[in-house]
Amino acid sequence: MSKQKQATSDHPVQAVAWQDGVIKMLDQRLLPGQETYHSLQSVSAVTHAIRDMLVRGAPAIGIAAAYGVVLAAREAYLSDRQDWRTAIEPRLRQLAEARPTAVNLQWAIDRMRQQFDRVQADPESILLNEAITIHEQDIAANKRMGELGAQIIKDAGNVLTHCNAGALATGGYGTALGVIRSAFANKTLDMVYASETRPWLQGARLTAWELDRDRIPITLIADSAAGYLMQSGSIDWVIVGADRIAANGDVANKIGTYTHAVSARHHGLGFMVVAPTSTIDVNTQSGHKIPIEQRPAGELLNHAGSAIAPNAVHAYNPVFDITPAALIDVIVTEKGVVHAPDEEKIRELLMR
Ligand code: MRU
Repeated sequence: MSKQKQATSDHPVQAVAWQDGVIKMLDQRLLPGQETYHSLQSVSAVTHAIRDMLVRGAPAIGIAAAYGVVLAAREAYLSDRQDWRTAIEPRLRQLAEARPTAVNLQWAIDRMRQQFDRVQADPESILLNEAITIHEQDIAANKRMGELGAQIIKDAGNVLTHCNAGALATGGYGTALGVIRSAFANKTLDMVYASETRPWLQGARLTAWELDRDRIPITLIADSAAGYLMQSGSIDWVIVGADRIAANGDVANKIGTYTHAVSARHHGLGFMVVAPTSTIDVNTQSGHKIPIEQRPAGELLNHAGSAIAPNAVHAYNPVFDITPAALIDVIVTEKGVVHAPDEEKIRELLMR
């Protein structure tokens, strides 16, 4: 076991890391009040952490899953040295089912599985190398997307972002927030509006926390205030991440993204999606085919342990929506940018 190996990010916020043979994970449920890290030593602990959203954000889920495969292989090898490849399968199924929408989860497991053929004896060090590579490539992709996206919005003063697509949601730096960080470094950004992102409040709790730490000017708004701000000329670009991009360029992202995209188009504003190519799922033809996660009604009915609606009422809590490609001005990836995305342009991008 190579205890010293670790992916390195120069960003102070790290959601997931491999440290001394276990996964170190920041508990995002407790932010911004508390910065608590957990040590995860089993694949079932990683599965629960993804499902219960200690870690969230598509690329960070993928990285956690990649390290989770290392733990799964360790468990499988301990239980059956000869046939660990069979013993690992139920563990990988459990991991893959933790959350349905972010395709990076299955992508990371598939990529880790490609290493299985190379293993002669104990699988841990080969798999750990691959997980660290996935982690490092994600950080590099974020930096590249940051540069590319910042070039596109160079005349923008104010941007709106939704949910959290920052260092917390990735290997480090961020996708949408990576573009925002790069634009701020280039001095082409005046203000970031963050919509609070009901019901889990990723915008209020996580994006506001991250940007404030970096001293990037941030103004928090209620989700429902976005249309008014657009109408009054306060926003130039909407910049968001993605959980899955279908083959035709439709994008699944946090619930409320579609509403922002419709409003942006109505007001003639730019709408940018920033995501690594690991988020593109060529096996899903269009957005209609993307599974949308439904989470418990209790997340809507309660806040911080107190009821904010009668608990007996029915509540509907889909946590992602689909923004059709036609409403997207540009998708930024580490391989390059796609303006007015469609199936042909996405296919061409993936061949670069
Ligand atoms: O439910 P979450 O917090 O996992 O949803 C996260 C998002 O919707 C993000 O915008 C997306 O995963 C991209 S993160 C770089």
